[in-house]
Amino acid sequence: MRWTSRHLLGLEGTTREELLTILDTAAKFREILDRPVKKVPTLRGVTVANLFFEASTRTRMSFELAEKRLSADTLSFSASTSSVKKGETLRDTARNIEAMMVDMVVIRHSSPGAPHFLSQHLDASVINAGDGAHEHPTQALLDIFTMRERLGDLDGKRVTIVGDILHSRVAKSDIYGLRALGAEVTLVGPSTFMPAEVERLGVTVTTDIEEATSDADVVNILRIQRERQEGGFLPSLREYTALFGIDAARVARMKPDVVIMHPGPINRGVELSPDVADSERSVILEQVTNGVAVRMSIIYLISRVRAAERAEELELLEVEL
Ligand code: CP
Repeated sequence: MRWTSRHLLGLEGTTREELLTILDTAAKFREILDRPVKKVPTLRGVTVANLFFEASTRTRMSFELAEKRLSADTLSFSASTSSVKKGETLRDTARNIEAMMVDMVVIRHSSPGAPHFLSQHLDASVINAGDGAHEHPTQALLDIFTMRERLGDLDGKRVTIVGDILHSRVAKSDIYGLRALGAEVTLVGPSTFMPAEVERLGVTVTTDIEEATSDADVVNILRIQRERQEGGFLPSLREYTALFGIDAARVARMKPDVVIMHPGPINRGVELSPDVADSERSVILEQVTNGVAVRMSIIYLISRVRAAERAEELELLEVEL
């Protein structure tokens, strides 16, 4: 058992052993999802609150389903219909929800560091479901799980991430996780989309899409965040598509067994053409399926840490008595 943290705030600093523990545990839960009865009683009595301060389809539903598959009790919160609208702070909101005897909080927030902040103010465990442009650890875990399903051990495998690295929390978590597992990571996109000194993370950076994708085992395509295009990062979406969009002609120049990934939501016809998104090379829907197993794994592992803490506290109490 190599998972000892009561939170999952990001993949930065996560070790190979910790990642393999999450992924191997997820593989067991993935088998359960193929059974006629897709549910286990493992987390009976545990309560998880899903606090989504930003829009989400996949992550939110995947966490909710993972919690239900583990038999946890779940609460879901949307900022748009909550007392946040009346001015309540993040800390007060979370502490009031925790006061209802909640054991874990899953949080998505537009502010980088919001999960870290909550972890300092709550006794509940905190799982980061995406914080601004910082990290999206469970997305990276499901990406890596899907890559391992297709390719086996990732040591030495070539993964190219295409697009808006600067604004992408997925790219950052993918880089941390993939590098810890020995994969070679190449980033490709317009230079305005590359964070300063990103090479320090042990990745190769290029603006040449053909060079970056010709020998890749995996091409992971990021969403162009249209909401951020006001900032002059791109001359136009049409130009981006011409220079970096992945279409059938570009895929034809890649390895014949290249794995095409995208975290979703897709801008069809912008960063990825519809025929490639729906092709046999694409594992986009497998990523979504695997997301439930990966989230079951992390919730389960954190619950084990909490149970161990409680057992230790009880032991201490008995000694004192
Ligand atoms: N991949 C991802 O985070 O999708 P959602 O924003 O729909 O959760």
